[in-house]
Amino acid sequence: MDLLLQQKVVLVTGASQGLGKAVATLFAKEGATVFISSRSKEKLEQAKQAIIEETNHHEIYVIPCDMSDAAQIEQLVDTVVNQAGTIDVLINNAGGPPAGKFLDMTDDIWMKSVEQNLLSVVRATRHVLPHMQKQQAGRIVNITSSSIKQSIDNLIVSNTLRPGVYGLTKSLAQEFADENILVNTVGPGKIGTDRMTQLLENTAETTGKSFAEVEAEALKEIPLGRLGTPEEFATAVVFLASFANTYITGQQLIVDGASIKAL
Ligand SMILES: NC(=O)c1ccc[n+]([C@@H]2O[C@H](COP(=O)([O-])OP(=O)(O)OC[C@H]3O[C@@H](n4cnc5c(N)ncnc54)[C@H](OP(=O)(O)O)[C@@H]3O)[C@@H](O)[C@H]2O)c1
Repeated sequence: MDLLLQQKVVLVTGASQGLGKAVATLFAKEGATVFISSRSKEKLEQAKQAIIEETNHHEIYVIPCDMSDAAQIEQLVDTVVNQAGTIDVLINNAGGPPAGKFLDMTDDIWMKSVEQNLLSVVRATRHVLPHMQKQQAGRIVNITSSSIKQSIDNLIVSNTLRPGVYGLTKSLAQEFADENILVNTVGPGKIGTDRMTQLLENTAETTGKSFAEVEAEALKEIPLGRLGTPEEFATAVVFLASFANTYITGQQLIVDGASIKAL
């Protein structure tokens, strides 16, 4: 299938490693012009080199941006548009909120998480939309979590904020459908990245179990019997964000090896 992404301008935030990097790599394989962004310029440069080596595609550009900072997000979008003329595809992603239960969370943690995981999506989308409207076409995919479908133990902040991003996705899809701007959210279940290792380590610490024990228990919850790979996750994101997708919008897709039981 031709995903119709050749030379399309794609911005992937939170893309120096993990899911964002895997998504950016797949866009590069499809011939898109890919802008990758995260807080660390050094990590971004390493990711860029790795993507070029893997894909032999050189249209990869690096722009540092902390997605919890409103001014940096505006500048990020302006820089992409100044360089590439427009943005066809926006992938909203950033680091996850801290693990913990309700009484662990201070106002400071809540506010930082709202900035990083909810307002980041609002702000990036707000700045990108006028460019998509100008060309009457665009695709936005918000990377969230399986917590949009079923709450996850010890992740109260994710359980609270991620469903908000799905609500935003639904409303944006309806408001901008007549301008051919399609908006979806993809929620990872348990995908093998640094973030997943940190979460398993955190569970090991709080329960007093060994890492191996915690990992084995996590795998038992996944009917496919293993963690997903970032590449498997990226396949779902890139299809929904492609111009081969012409009718799926306002949806959530959970990539979880059948672990979520909620309908
Ligand atoms: N992996 C999973 O199974 C899983 C499950 C559920 C939800 N998720 C969510 O999916 C997202 C990606 O997960 P991941 O596993 O790829 O995580 P990861 O391996 O920790 O990577 C996070 C990426 O986001 C960047 N980042 C962190 N904070 C940022 C910020 N404030 N502004 C801009 N970039 C930022 C990091 O780069 P810098 O350090 O350079 O900024 C890095 O590139 C996270 O929100 C995570 O909570 C993942």
